[in-house]
Amino acid sequence: MPAKVDMDKIVSLCKRRGFVFPSSEIYGGLASCWDYGPVGVELKRNVKEAWWKVMVHERDDVVGLDTSIMMHPGVWAASGHIDSFTDPLVECKSCHLRWRADAIEGKKCPKCGGELTEPRMFNLMFKTSMGPVEEEASTVYLRPETAQGIFVNFENVVTTSRKKLPLGIAQIGKSFRNEITPGNFIFRTREFEHMELEYFVKPGTDEKWLDYWVKERFDWYVRLGVKKENLRLRQHGKDELAHYAKDCYDVEYLFPMGWSELEGIANRGDFDLTQHAKCSGKELSYRDAEAGEKYVPYVIEPSAGVDRSVLAFLVDAYEEEEVEGEKRTVLHLHHSLAPIKVAVLPLSRNEKLTPLAKEVFKRLCPRFVTDYDDSQSIGRRYRRQDEIGTPFCVTIDFESLEDKQVTIRERDSLAQIRVPVEGLEKVIEAKLRGEAFDASTLWATRQK
Ligand code: GAP
Repeated sequence: MPAKVDMDKIVSLCKRRGFVFPSSEIYGGLASCWDYGPVGVELKRNVKEAWWKVMVHERDDVVGLDTSIMMHPGVWAASGHIDSFTDPLVECKSCHLRWRADAIEGKKCPKCGGELTEPRMFNLMFKTSMGPVEEEASTVYLRPETAQGIFVNFENVVTTSRKKLPLGIAQIGKSFRNEITPGNFIFRTREFEHMELEYFVKPGTDEKWLDYWVKERFDWYVRLGVKKENLRLRQHGKDELAHYAKDCYDVEYLFPMGWSELEGIANRGDFDLTQHAKCSGKELSYRDAEAGEKYVPYVIEPSAGVDRSVLAFLVDAYEEEEVEGEKRTVLHLHHSLAPIKVAVLPLSRNEKLTPLAKEVFKRLCPRFVTDYDDSQSIGRRYRRQDEIGTPFCVTIDFESLEDKQVTIRERDSLAQIRVPVEGLEKVIEAKLRGEAFDASTLWATRQK
C-alpha cells in the first residue's frame, strides 16, 4: 500500500514554507545535510518537548541527562562500536559509486550496471582529532548514539538521583553516522538527533518491560495524531539484531518510500554495563539494600530519531483537498506539534485596523507561539497558515473596530466563530486543548 503523498511534495512544501532547507544551499548544498527553517525549528522543538514531557516530566522513574558528543575512545572500544558498528560496502568498478551490499539486489551497480567489488566492512563512526596535533593518540569519534553517555554515567545518576530500580535515564541530542547511502530527505542523514531512554531493570523482568515500552512508544505516535493504519510493529529476526541486542522491535511507519523504521525498542540485556565495567575497571552494578541483592541491571532501550519523527508527522498530517472548487493543502498537525498555534491576520493593511490587530497579537503572544501577518490577500494568508499547520487564525475586520469582536477560523473544520477580543486567549487555550468553548459565557462576563 503506497503512502498517500510522495516525498517530492513534502520536500517542496518544506522548502517553500520554511520547514527544512538544504544545508549550505548557496554553495550547492552538502549531501544529506539539512537545516531547519523558522517553522521547522518550532516543529522539531515541539516533537522533542512532547517526548521529554511523557518520558521524563510525567514519570517518577525517569531522569534526564545531557552528555558530551565526544567521549573517551575507550567507550567505543568497550561498546563494540569500533569492531561491530559496520555496514557491508561494495563499490562499482565503473562509476565508483558506493552501496550498502545488503541494501541492493543482485550483483551489479544499480546506477550503471557495472561490476561491484567484494563487500568489505565499513565503520560508520566519524573520526576526528582532538587537540592541535593530529596524532593517533588524539583520535576521537563523534558519537553514533547518545546511549553510551548514559551507560558511562549510570553510577553518577543512581547515586545523585537517589532513585531505585527500575530507573530510566533519558537523553536527547545529536548523533553522527557516516551512512553509506543516506537519503529520502531527513529520513537517513549523517547528522541527526536521537531521543533515547535507557531503562534499567532487574534481570528476569526485562521481557515484561520490553513489552511495556513497545506499547508505550507505539501509543505515543498515535496520541500525537499519527493514523494507526500507517504504523506497525516488527520484531527483528535473530540475524538482524544489533551486536548488543537480545531482542528488538521496530515501530515502522508507512513513509512515501514504503514501510520503514521509525523507532527501535531493544532489550540490550547487561551487555553495555558489563562491557564498561570490564574495560574501565569500575564496578557498575546495582545494590538493592531492601532486598539484600546486588546485580548488573538489564536495559530496555526505546530509541527514536527526532528528524525521522518530524518526517512521519509531516507526511501523516499532509492533505490536499478541494474547498469550494479550489485546491487546499493543509497539515493537520496535532495542536501540540503545530509550529504556530495562532495567526493574527488583519483583513488588510489599512491603518485603522493595525492598532487593534497589534493589540490582539500582544494579548496572545505571551501565551502561544503567535504569527502576525498583514501582507497579501487574506485568502493567500489563510493558505500559508494551512500549509504550515496553524490550528487557528484570528481575523480583524472593520466591524471589529465597532463591536470589539474578531473571527476565529479553524484549520481543520474551516468553521468560523466570532468572539470578543476580551477573553480571546481563554477561547484559544480551550480550543488548543480540544475543548468545546461556548463564547456566550465570555459575553456574559464582559457585559456585567
Ligand atoms: N541506541 C540505539 C540506536 O541508535 P538505531 O536503530 O540505530 O538504534 C534509533 O537508531 C533511531 O534513530 C532509528 O529508529 C531512527 O529513527 C534514528 N536514526 C538512526 N539512524 C539514523 C540516520 N542515519 N538518520 C536519521 N535518523 C536515524
